[in-house]
Amino acid sequence: MSKPFRIGLAGLGTVGAGVVKIIQKNGHLLEKRAGRPIEIAAVSAKDRTRDRGVDLSAYDWVEKTGDLANYKDLDAVVEVIGGSEGPAADLVRASLKNGRHVVTANKALLALHGDELANLADEKGACLMFEAAVAGGVPIIKAMREGLAANEIKSIYGILNGTCNYILTTMRQTGRSFDDVLKEAQAQGYAEADPAFDIDGIDAAHKLCILAAIGFGVKPDFKSLSIEGIRHINTTDIAYATEFGYRIKLLGIARRENGKILQVMEPCLVPIESPMGIIDDVYNAVYVEGDFVETPLFTGKGAGQGPTASSVVSDLIDLARGHRLPAFGIPAKDLKAAVWADPGETVNSYYLRLMVLDRAGVIADVSAILRDKNISIEGLVQRGRDPGQPVPVIITTHETRHADMMAACELIEKLDCCVEKPRAMCIEEL
Ligand code: HSE
Repeated sequence: MSKPFRIGLAGLGTVGAGVVKIIQKNGHLLEKRAGRPIEIAAVSAKDRTRDRGVDLSAYDWVEKTGDLANYKDLDAVVEVIGGSEGPAADLVRASLKNGRHVVTANKALLALHGDELANLADEKGACLMFEAAVAGGVPIIKAMREGLAANEIKSIYGILNGTCNYILTTMRQTGRSFDDVLKEAQAQGYAEADPAFDIDGIDAAHKLCILAAIGFGVKPDFKSLSIEGIRHINTTDIAYATEFGYRIKLLGIARRENGKILQVMEPCLVPIESPMGIIDDVYNAVYVEGDFVETPLFTGKGAGQGPTASSVVSDLIDLARGHRLPAFGIPAKDLKAAVWADPGETVNSYYLRLMVLDRAGVIADVSAILRDKNISIEGLVQRGRDPGQPVPVIITTHETRHADMMAACELIEKLDCCVEKPRAMCIEEL
């Protein structure tokens, strides 16, 4: 029998336990595909006594997670603890320094320290693998790094957070509140340890950085990314978007614009029947435009135990059979520092939601501000009447500079009639 590929597993939460389940259930398949058995040699997690629904008795228990970096005869360390700093980051660094391959699902770590870690891996002749870090069970890293390698990538659009997509879909389908649906997503194991990472767009932004790095050959640069989450989206927005023929999606956009790269994460309206509009529930999707391949769409479950663990194990199979690639598809030393486009200069149609008092002159005041900012109204809806009380007014616009829309929102917010912060969302006609 060929020598087993021995791994040390750090983290036994949702994903870690999923990795154990796959290796235990599908070991015979993995062995055929990898050309050798994949064997868990050691595991480490915070609490040894917790029942995780898997039998760990055959594996060595390592008290100090960091010890896996030097643990005897390991071929790879699997890090599924999470967090851009602390024990996960220490373990990944120490393992790579030892020339030990690392498989991780840690998108925060890669988005913030990916350049440093990829350089370290290259220097030490180790591989840094992270299929599970982006879009859960969708093999998008392999697709971007290998399947699309013939192309110059022009744009990447992604629905990259399962929790947000689940919340937006369920709110639309049931009319239930944001908080109520978020709790359900947490109970199903989709959400991050801190769900603010999901709903404020941070988790999705981490993932977009990683895709942009591979797609454009640039250093992952989380700090340069403009990010907005979905906390402010309410059932009024969802209902009007549907009426106008759109879905609201937390959309990551990375595209070439005039020699620069635009990188933004924000809720957008997309046509209901578009490649992104049809992606519901916990599904993620990545829509890529390459110069020869045109526009493939990749989709699948973006969160949850099975899909995420499936991606971790796919990396292990690659490593076990000797398939080696640089972390971001090219040698780390060749990754460029990107020149980022200013999101304020992007031009889009907008959806604008106002809560204003129902009284004479309000629309005149609002439209004067839009006129002064050179914003042309495409449509305007105010339904019902409630004299003297707040009512929603929904406006859609022609193509507008982002900075002009933001400036108009600030001025509208100062009007006496305006009782809530105006909310503007791009309309992306994908
Ligand atoms: N919390 C993430 C999501 C899953 O909801 O998509 C792991 O990245």
